[in-house]
Amino acid sequence: MATTFSWQHPGRESLKLELEMNGDSITDVKMKARGCLSFLLFSQKMKASLKGPAQNLDLPHGHSHSELIWKEMIQRIQNQWKDPINHKELCHCRQVDADVVDRAVVYGAHTVEDIRKRTSANTGCATCLPDVQKVLKNRLA
Ligand code: FES
Repeated sequence: MATTFSWQHPGRESLKLELEMNGDSITDVKMKARGCLSFLLFSQKMKASLKGPAQNLDLPHGHSHSELIWKEMIQRIQNQWKDPINHKELCHCRQVDADVVDRAVVYGAHTVEDIRKRTSANTGCATCLPDVQKVLKNRLA
């Protein structure tokens, strides 16, 4: 029986993996990927590496959106992914959800200032700063 992992951002990249497993070992991979050419090429390369024990898979180390999406997927396959924020709304002043901030980081907002500009989060009372920093660290560390 296949185990499915998926990632998507409306209007941008989406990725669906169906992994056949024998215990902890990946024996077959089906992939559906959509998005920009660099994401599709990177996904083909990553798909070819999905073999053998899941715990031995290497994480991508760069900060492009392709690498960050695949880093999450590999961590999910390894059961290592943790959402950094366990509540939906990250910034109450601007009513910005945590997933909006997270997606901004995936798509290039790599500083608190970038996140403020792209999402409006953390542009009011600033009490959400620790949560913004947690999202940044989770993606970029
Ligand atoms: S809660 Fe985010 S600026 Fe106030």
